[in-house]
Amino acid sequence: MKVMVIGGGGREHAILKSLKQSPEIDTLYALPGNAGIEASGDAVCVPVGAKDIPGAVAFARENGIGFAVVAPDDPLVLGMVDALEEAGIPCFGPRANAAIIEGSKVFSKSLMKKYGIPTASYEVFRSPESALEYAETCPLPIVVKADGLALGKGVLICETREAAREAIHSIMEEKVFGTSGNAIVMEEFLTGPEVSVLAFTDGVCIKPMVSSMDHKRALDGDRGLNTGGMGTIAPNPYYTAEIAAICRKTIFEPTIRAMQAEGRPFQGCLYFGLMLTPDGPKVIEYNCRFGDPETQVVLPLLKSDLFSVMKAVRFGTLAETDVSFSADCSCCVICASEGYPKHYETGFPLILPSTEAPDAVYVSGAKRSPDGTLITGGGRVVGAVSVRPTLQEAVDAAYRVADAVSFQNKFCRGDIGKRALSCLNSI
Ligand code: AMP
Ligand code: GLY
Repeated sequence: MKVMVIGGGGREHAILKSLKQSPEIDTLYALPGNAGIEASGDAVCVPVGAKDIPGAVAFARENGIGFAVVAPDDPLVLGMVDALEEAGIPCFGPRANAAIIEGSKVFSKSLMKKYGIPTASYEVFRSPESALEYAETCPLPIVVKADGLALGKGVLICETREAAREAIHSIMEEKVFGTSGNAIVMEEFLTGPEVSVLAFTDGVCIKPMVSSMDHKRALDGDRGLNTGGMGTIAPNPYYTAEIAAICRKTIFEPTIRAMQAEGRPFQGCLYFGLMLTPDGPKVIEYNCRFGDPETQVVLPLLKSDLFSVMKAVRFGTLAETDVSFSADCSCCVICASEGYPKHYETGFPLILPSTEAPDAVYVSGAKRSPDGTLITGGGRVVGAVSVRPTLQEAVDAAYRVADAVSFQNKFCRGDIGKRALSCLNSI
């Protein structure tokens, strides 16, 4: 079968690498993929943008695509799955009416309130005046969130009233995130370790994957700006079997039932961003897709055939399908362009080490120069990944792979996995 994956980052590279192991797939296409994915030989890259719905439908029709995986948030929220399904192409990924769980924080917060799913308490504002009024009396710190998609940057933690006023001004008046700032959520500041849990669901049955920990800040010690993610480890040692059982009962299953009850059955990968607060696990955010760079550490631990699981999600047979994970640990260290997520330069020659399982490099941002050489092409450039029996070994091995990735302005955090290791050492 011919299968296409929509998207062009490290997450998509990890999905492609995993799908490549399926005996049922003859050819894998990435739309658009990137030059690093193409150079690795893991997919044929096709110059159709990830948000180009008519382009994806036309490509699928003309090339006899039998199954599509829509990975990024924008095309999901824009309805790419709906369009492909209408054209007769079965897809892995939610329809637009379910992707709204990520596409609108006003939607997801009211869903959680209506169905009693634990989350931070909050207020919704649709005008800057009413938000500014609330900012004068709200508890501090206060978390201000743009309603819509904002490249992971729409969340501002405000310690002071002045900072809250500024956040409201930039999101609702200056519209730094465009129409995503037409409404905002202002919510209670929670504390505790964060855990990412990705889960396969066919709308009725939900099978969580191994847990992971993202490192969202740009600099060591969780300092600096929020980024798309500077590295990940799996499993997350804070997420014990006991906590997993609580999350299944109070968060995962209620969410799937709530989406069903709303007439918005969710099929695909549902991402739970959780905070383990002193009052128990609470939802920080839902994403309607695989996380990046969580996928780069979770899929290498999947023992079952990813394509079989994806088909079971689409055809509603997940309950009868095996989804099992190895007991190993994994680590992903992101090699970024210095200055990311603000100003950074690209276009430097990129040299990738040749790796063999259980090591891998997943390319997020690479291009071809006019003379055909591989050059850097983004803020996040490469994810260096290793799988080993212990977390310490996985971290050490991932840093060895990251050291072997070469480009002029390479920047990595030096402490990926450190917090998780100190958690393990304190048990
Ligand atoms: P999000 O884009 O929703 O994942 O938020 C980005 C980051 O902001 C999260 O990973 C948390 O670290 C932080 N955050 C979001 N909401 C809250 C909250 N209510 N309390 C504390 N931190 C938060
Ligand atoms: N790593 C966080 C995300 O994918 O949104």
